[in-house]
Amino acid sequence: VAGLNEPLRAVEWVGEQDGYLRILDQTELPGRIESIDCRDVDCVWEAIHSLRIRGAPALGIAGAYGLVLGLSGELHLDREAFLRRMREVSARLRTCRPTAVNLFIYLDRLEAAADRGGDSARQMHAALLATARAIEAENAAACDAMARHGAELIGDGWGVLTHCNAGALATAGAGTALAVLVRAHRQGKRIRVYADETRPLLQGARITALELMRSGLDVVLICDSAAAQVIAEGRVRAVIVGADRIAANGDFANKIGTRGIAVIAAEHGIPFYVVAPTSTIDPGLEDGDSIPIEERDPAEVTEGFGSRTAPEGVRVYNPAFDVTPNRYVTAIVTEGGVLEPPYGPAIQRVLQD
Ligand code: MRU
Repeated sequence: VAGLNEPLRAVEWVGEQDGYLRILDQTELPGRIESIDCRDVDCVWEAIHSLRIRGAPALGIAGAYGLVLGLSGELHLDREAFLRRMREVSARLRTCRPTAVNLFIYLDRLEAAADRGGDSARQMHAALLATARAIEAENAAACDAMARHGAELIGDGWGVLTHCNAGALATAGAGTALAVLVRAHRQGKRIRVYADETRPLLQGARITALELMRSGLDVVLICDSAAAQVIAEGRVRAVIVGADRIAANGDFANKIGTRGIAVIAAEHGIPFYVVAPTSTIDPGLEDGDSIPIEERDPAEVTEGFGSRTAPEGVRVYNPAFDVTPNRYVTAIVTEGGVLEPPYGPAIQRVLQD
């Protein structure tokens, strides 16, 4: 159990090759700061599926460690049997959530590392763990770089609107969009952050507001449906969000509600920034039309947090993400720098660096 003033860490591998995964249970926030210790892959699958750990990089990193855990009991196998088992466990982990691409990119990387890792199961398992650790460290470094690049875009005295949660708890480091805001704040810029509460699971209210308040920022929580009015009143100089998957042309998926804000920002002529590491880019998708959109349990809409808010039996459609076309995006901030339109060549360049 972390103390109230300690930095919150979404995910942590505890121990060495026979270790386990500690996950801060984000479904309990903001009321309780509690962790669960996962010692098998089913625990990790459930934690990702139920959003105990969420946010594109963080859930991907948990999945990477999930693959390590899923093979921890298989060190007696020969090389071929170990690799076969690894592909089974990886295939299972790939079913926990479909939209954020980081999970798939990280699992591909772990599978390749194990294959190259040696002849014995122990060596291949060590390669899995080393690669998961490397991905975690790279993500933390990427967060710092994104914060550095992105803070230059934020002016003194600005109101900034954000949606969902793209903070430390969505990553293995300082966060993406929120790391930019925290850094701008630490540079002495006076900013006020309007945080959308983010229906139906309230990541904005429960997690973004908590993280930004703990970092000393001026936060104002608004209902999602208030965003257009807040922007029209001239309170917002920029919108800044994270992403779950960015296609090769810069179209991107993020939490449901993002697209509407992008359209409103364009209508009012204010910049709309996306902040995401290159591990969120899916160069295999030409545009956003083929990004898989997760559809979640209707109960999140009708009885979220235990209280029934709609009639029994009502039909519900609950897509968890939407796709924003690249024409609404002013810039994409990555660890490799700030990308501007046209995004096709800019994305190719940053992936080659
Ligand atoms: O359903 P969630 O909470 O996993 O959705 C998270 C988001 O949409 C974030 O904005 C996105 O993953 C970027 S986080 C760095």
